[in-house]
Amino acid sequence: MKNWNVAVMGATGAVGSRFLSILEERNFPIKSIKLLASKRSKGKSIKFKKRSCEVEELTHDSFKGVELVLSSAGAERSLEYLPSAVKAGCICIDNSSAFRMDENVPLVVPEVNPHAVKRHRGIIANPNCSTIQLVVALWPLHKKAKIKRVVVSTYQSVSGAGGKNISELKEQVSYLQKAKDADLIGKHTVGKSCIKEFPHQIAFNLIPHIDKFLDNAYTKEEMKMVNETRKIMEDDSIGITATAIRVPVYYAHSESVNIETEDKLSRDEAKGILSRAPGVTLIDDPQNFRYPMPLDAEGTDGVFVGRVREDESIPNGLNLWIVSDNLRKGAALNAIQIAELL
Ligand code: A2P
Repeated sequence: MKNWNVAVMGATGAVGSRFLSILEERNFPIKSIKLLASKRSKGKSIKFKKRSCEVEELTHDSFKGVELVLSSAGAERSLEYLPSAVKAGCICIDNSSAFRMDENVPLVVPEVNPHAVKRHRGIIANPNCSTIQLVVALWPLHKKAKIKRVVVSTYQSVSGAGGKNISELKEQVSYLQKAKDADLIGKHTVGKSCIKEFPHQIAFNLIPHIDKFLDNAYTKEEMKMVNETRKIMEDDSIGITATAIRVPVYYAHSESVNIETEDKLSRDEAKGILSRAPGVTLIDDPQNFRYPMPLDAEGTDGVFVGRVREDESIPNGLNLWIVSDNLRKGAALNAIQIAELL
């Protein structure tokens, strides 16, 4: 087996740290590893396979001798630096949105469209976290009964927005725990200084706003789910509408999904298909209070599906509840599975 010279771009970030732990867990064949981040992190030490590795500043010259780049340092950095990596001969698996909808860039979920990897010209895009867990569950149902329409609402954890946002929820929770009643502006409202990354308080709140608003009044996150799902499932005829909500959960995204299919699928048939589907773990035993939840999905590799029900308002409809760790299957794990395909 080939051993790779690997660089991790954004190694100090929420997804970057998962790249490192998952490479280690899966014993990915590595010859050398280079940790890249901003100037701020230069010289910082990070443990990889029990060795201390020094973080280097990302520059256009960072890629000499590197064969595989795993990148998650934001779309701007990907746009600026990945062309240099490709020039240096690297294959880049990019977790940002920068190249996902580029015709020349495959957008890959190994359980759904592994064949697309072969078309790469140096960059392979890793889909949006909410899209990955959605398509892993929808694909086996689509193959059996052809999905015509999807209505999805997400319940996305703060870690999806990055390391600073995890800290922001922690700070807000701690502020509210420490504050005396008299210190609180409202009943459970934090001071303005505790709101930095999110547009509003996230502790004990929900924010129906992820990424920028677009002209059609959807957010960019919502449209990513629409466009990326169609690209990965290679079917532009599927109607998809999404609402993305940020929730005060640290790790794992949840999704309430309604689908309409061309052919009828009963609850039992859908459960049978999902129980055999690659990457899916069916947890659907409501009598015993067993259904997927973010706390159970945190730190695991599965896409957990439960609450499977026939939609009684239409002839061929199903409701599903899908949960997965957004930093693992939703980001780092999927990227490393793509690398394993290579
Ligand atoms: P740094 O920690 O030095 O800022 P997250 O997704 O958790 O917010 O992490 C973002 C990652 O992207 C971090 O590793 C961060 O490094 C990195 N990053 C952010 N800005 C830059 C930049 N200008 N150049 C290189 N890396 C960057």
